[in-house]
Amino acid sequence: MCSQYCISLADVKKAHSEIEDLIHITPVLTSSFLNQLTGRKLFFKCELFQKTGSFKIRGALNAIRSLTSDTSGDGKKPRAVVTHSSGNHGQALSYAARLEGIPAYIVVPRTAPFCKKSAILGYGATIVDCEPSDESRTMVAARIVKQTQGTMVHPNQSPAVMAGQGTIAVEVLKQVPTVDALVVPVGGGGMISGIAITIKALRPEVKVYAAEPQNADDCFQSKLKGELTPNPSLPNTIADGVKSSIGPYTWPIIRDLVDEVFTVTEDEIKNATQLVWERMKLLIEPTAAVGVAAVLSEQFQKVVPAVQDVCVVLSGGNVDLTSLRWLKQPECEEAQLPLN
Ligand SMILES: Cc1ncc(COP(=O)(O)O)c(C=O)c1O
Repeated sequence: MCSQYCISLADVKKAHSEIEDLIHITPVLTSSFLNQLTGRKLFFKCELFQKTGSFKIRGALNAIRSLTSDTSGDGKKPRAVVTHSSGNHGQALSYAARLEGIPAYIVVPRTAPFCKKSAILGYGATIVDCEPSDESRTMVAARIVKQTQGTMVHPNQSPAVMAGQGTIAVEVLKQVPTVDALVVPVGGGGMISGIAITIKALRPEVKVYAAEPQNADDCFQSKLKGELTPNPSLPNTIADGVKSSIGPYTWPIIRDLVDEVFTVTEDEIKNATQLVWERMKLLIEPTAAVGVAAVLSEQFQKVVPAVQDVCVVLSGGNVDLTSLRWLKQPECEEAQLPLN
């Protein structure tokens, strides 16, 4: 089934054996409050606890490991690795490159959250600023690849990255054997592609749902039109990890293997973030709340009323704590807490 795509289940399994000694098997948590609210059994795959604070280390490590073990080349390590990333992939690639002793150059939009930039620097990589647009990041990254004679590791269109992200699904199938559906936030689609390839090969009856902001709904538009339809301009969303559009490598997998796309408003994302912080005590970043917002939405209730055991991927926890001005202040009556 998978040979028509750029990755297969075999690639995901290989990725799993390459990286499993270096990553955390992240826990799956539940919340009876959220179960009650949705009338389902929800399972939260906590990639916010993953090394570097997001799932991205899975793909980055697999990509670096495949480069260093590539026997078709001259057997040498790459001179450098280069990527463009709004933050999480940049952090992950920096960390993975340092493990292998390879210099990393990360092209970051100058508007990216400060905490993400300082973490990249903390992992020893070099930051190269670009403008906050797809064209600028692609152009600057190409220039750095040329200057450093490095290798580009794309945040979501690299097959090795996609296969690495698929290892989330390998774990979920073991941790939640009764799972009926997974809900995955989508930016470039690397994570959902790896997950969909794995799920549809091992448990084809399990649904794979995409979640994205209404303000960055290229995945939804692409499925609607039946052709790759990138965001027309840089989206304005609090979910900064999913501003990028799906691409030529992830689109065929999403087109064929993703069952439904749910879009959510900015208010829904903010409410879901705050709900998870307050009720579950998990410091997720707003991008990771996009899937939670989808499951809480009326649309989800309408389209998939019968799906019971739903696993939501909480994809990251790199929150810029200095940017919390959007938090809702509690009203006086609501501030009264129960005695226990
Ligand atoms: C926290 C978080 N969640 C989800 C995504 C979306 O992943 P993908 O671009 O592979 O669709 C990203 C991407 O940066 C992210 O950082």
